[in-house]
Amino acid sequence: MKLFALSLLVSALFSSGNASPNIVPTTEIQDLQTGTLMVLPPQQTDTGTKRIPDAQHPFIPPGPHDQRGPCPAMNTLANHGYVSRDGITTFEEIILAGMEAFNIDRDTIANMAAVNMITRGNPFVNKISIGGISPLVPPLPYKIDGPYTQGIQKHGRVEGDASLTRSDAFIGDNRNFNQTLWDMDLVQLAAFGDDGPDGPKTVFNLQSLIEIKRQNYESDQALNPKFALPPRRLFTAYGGASLIMTMFANGTTKQATRRIMTSFFMNQTFPENWFRAAVPVTPSPIVGQMAAALPQWRAGGNNGNGIYKADDPPPPPFNVTAGCGNYWDQLSNGTPGSLAHVTGIFKQNVDLLNGIMFRVSGCPEQIAPAGPTNV
Ligand code: HEM
Ligand SMILES: *[C@@H]1O[C@H](CO)[C@@H](O)[C@H](O)[C@H]1NC(C)=O
Ligand SMILES: *[C@@H]1O[C@H](CO)[C@@H](O)[C@H](O)[C@H]1NC(C)=O
Ligand SMILES: *[C@@H]1O[C@H](CO)[C@@H](O)[C@H](O)[C@H]1NC(C)=O
Ligand SMILES: *[C@@H]1O[C@H](CO)[C@@H](O)[C@H](O)[C@H]1NC(C)=O
Repeated sequence: MKLFALSLLVSALFSSGNASPNIVPTTEIQDLQTGTLMVLPPQQTDTGTKRIPDAQHPFIPPGPHDQRGPCPAMNTLANHGYVSRDGITTFEEIILAGMEAFNIDRDTIANMAAVNMITRGNPFVNKISIGGISPLVPPLPYKIDGPYTQGIQKHGRVEGDASLTRSDAFIGDNRNFNQTLWDMDLVQLAAFGDDGPDGPKTVFNLQSLIEIKRQNYESDQALNPKFALPPRRLFTAYGGASLIMTMFANGTTKQATRRIMTSFFMNQTFPENWFRAAVPVTPSPIVGQMAAALPQWRAGGNNGNGIYKADDPPPPPFNVTAGCGNYWDQLSNGTPGSLAHVTGIFKQNVDLLNGIMFRVSGCPEQIAPAGPTNV
């Protein structure tokens, strides 16, 4: 990590002065913005469990101008200064924070960072808001995705319906914790959970997560005429739920208790005496097990009329796995098509992010960004 920081410093020093001809520039001006070449950090070598946070990362609640949003993990990382407390972060900072605080595998967190940066960040200047629009994150150069860079709370590309603790954008507040939804989740936990240190049926298990997702879908399908679960959303809805058992669980006991999850979701702080995972966390088979248990919830939506209809499956060859269908949908419908035509460092960054997403997708071929802009 020190070496990595040093190499960034060295490249920054060279790029600010007259670079010698055999040193590739790492910054560039486009539309008066200074773009920065992103660098994928290496997998950390210290990968055991340990108590989080350390003394350097105390909880400090956000100030009035700090961005917070729909992701309980990003909010927690910002509340503890693992990413910038103002809620404006970078590709590298997200990856380093995720590895340090959650012991998440490098490629897994790089993929999460990439999906969000390419859809809702400014991948030229390498900045993303973990909440909404911020004056600290400029629009894409030449405004090729509209007048603003939105931040991760903006509905439609990644942020979507049937969340565990946030309302559908059509129904209410899709950004902040919703106590009613969490209470509904806890009803399912109390019916299907495992026994643990906090009492009977207080530990999340596969069945409780299945029942929670079933309830999320049924409730929002009935309440939201625009309810939408495109492949990319269905995949992340299960992905987010699976993280309860892998990423948020106490690394020593492997238990995700009601108290731990309430601390992360509601208080957006690391639980007292919490230990990160004992081995680097990778995507979990729980995702497929939840999907298999709820076969009636195929990718689809209400299409404005309140009647749920399944989408056509992704076209071949992108129908090989759910992960590939997710990548196909993300690039074809959830990533601005204007990113296919950028140049220089902007293009290098977009290619890096797309390449990371492609490598974890299981798809036989890569896809260029082709989704709508300014949405
Ligand atoms: C560090 C590991 C991470 C964990 C453990 C994590 C966990 C979660 C969980 C559990 C949710 C679901 C919340 C709910 O349904 O109410 C969620 C939602 C979300 N996360 Fe994260 N996340 C992580 C990293 C990231 C990163 C790096 C980003 C982007 C910078 C991100 C962006 C989002 C977004 C946009 C949502 C909203 C999806 C929705 O429910 O509509 N997450 N995350
Ligand atoms: C919280 O969720 C409930 C249940 O879906 C909903 O009725 C309410 O409007 C939501 N509140 C906000 C502020 O979104
Ligand atoms: C959440 O924060 C409140 C107020 O500080 C505290 O009383 C409560 O114990 C916390 N709950 C959890 C589960 O961390
Ligand atoms: C995590 O497990 C350890 C035992 O290994 C325990 O002392 C600690 O209280 C647990 N933390 C939480 C937040 O449950
Ligand atoms: C993908 O779609 C093609 C054409 O519809 C179909 O023949 C093939 O069986 C599908 N593959 C999978 C794995 O579903």
